[in-house]
Amino acid sequence: MSETSSAATATPPNTAAPGTTVAVTGAEGFIGSHLVEALVATGHRVRAMVQYNSFSSFGWLETLPNDVMAHVEVVLGDVRDPGSVGGLLRGTEAVYHLAALIAIPYSYRAPHSYVETNVTGTLNVLEAVRHLEIPRLVHTSTSEIYGTAQTVPITEDHPVNTQSPYAASKAGGDRLADSYHAGFGTPVVTLRPFNTFGPRQSMRAVIPTVIGQVAAGQTTITLGDLRPTRDFTFVKDTAAAFLAVGTAPAADVVGRTFNAGTGGEISVGDLVALVGKLMDTPLDVREDAQRVRPADAEVMRLVCDASRLRAATGWAPAHTLEGGLEHTIAFFRDPANLARYKTDLYNV
Ligand SMILES: NC(=O)c1ccc[n+]([C@@H]2O[C@H](COP(=O)([O-])OP(=O)(O)OC[C@H]3O[C@@H](n4cnc5c(N)ncnc54)[C@H](O)[C@@H]3O)[C@@H](O)[C@H]2O)c1
Repeated sequence: MSETSSAATATPPNTAAPGTTVAVTGAEGFIGSHLVEALVATGHRVRAMVQYNSFSSFGWLETLPNDVMAHVEVVLGDVRDPGSVGGLLRGTEAVYHLAALIAIPYSYRAPHSYVETNVTGTLNVLEAVRHLEIPRLVHTSTSEIYGTAQTVPITEDHPVNTQSPYAASKAGGDRLADSYHAGFGTPVVTLRPFNTFGPRQSMRAVIPTVIGQVAAGQTTITLGDLRPTRDFTFVKDTAAAFLAVGTAPAADVVGRTFNAGTGGEISVGDLVALVGKLMDTPLDVREDAQRVRPADAEVMRLVCDASRLRAATGWAPAHTLEGGLEHTIAFFRDPANLARYKTDLYNV
């Protein structure tokens, strides 16, 4: 138990300051691994939950330099298991909860697993934060919970319209987080990133699918619907947003939800054309019926209003779409990185 977490503390602590130990769930994943790097770069020690697997794989953490991993303690576990979560969190000053099942198409095939991971897993984290009196929890939401934009740009007050089991399970986690803050005073901040892209992202997402296929020498690209628009945010900016809400004074952020996105908007079709231009490769784009979602399930438009986050923390994206794409292209053009992907498979 941390003294500074006492309810009697007059001034809320500026938690997770450099030098403290923080926990990250989903640390081995795409955004999690970038967040771990950002936390270490700002002087934190990180206790990183990696989902237990019999291969002893630490996911993307295996690719981080030794001088980063020297500040990281890897803990194998599972957010569906309360004991596993409690062991991870004990003695930490803040928790960044990113672990989730995130593929939208797969959420139709295996919805139970999404509820267990994204709802029950989040409940386990909230319970552990509450009982261990951890001073700060950053809970991860997603722009998908808004569904197709009814007004743009999307503020945190936009209605929730969950068009997939994934979105529904994430919204369930959000509601639990809100209820723990309301009912128990649990010091939760919810960060709601819009579509994030960059090195290490899995092939289920559109940008790595296109760049990966081109980097592997293909010029015919198969995709789902080309019309939806998205607000694509570079992963280092998303990691910076996590850090911003995790380290801001409690009075500015606790009990609040923050969108994180650039405010820009591009259709999937225009995005593919831009990638082709940046990679100097004329592309023949084909729509693959297998990848097109039912009409009511496809989220047609997402564009972020992040002014609340900017006002509370000063966060602003530091990368343009083109700049972020250049970093991502360089990553996929490295044969050692490309070898980690199966570019010829449709990865749900
Ligand atoms: N990528 C995006 O565009 C985006 C946008 C908005 C929100 N998010 C959210 O950001 C978070 C991270 O997403 P990501 O894109 O890095 O995906 P990711 O799949 O790379 O990372 C998720 C991680 O969670 C881990 N995990 C899954 N089930 C687990 C379990 N039962 N126990 C412990 N760990 C488990 C996975 O092993 C994986 O490393 C998620 O909460 C996601 O909903 C992502």
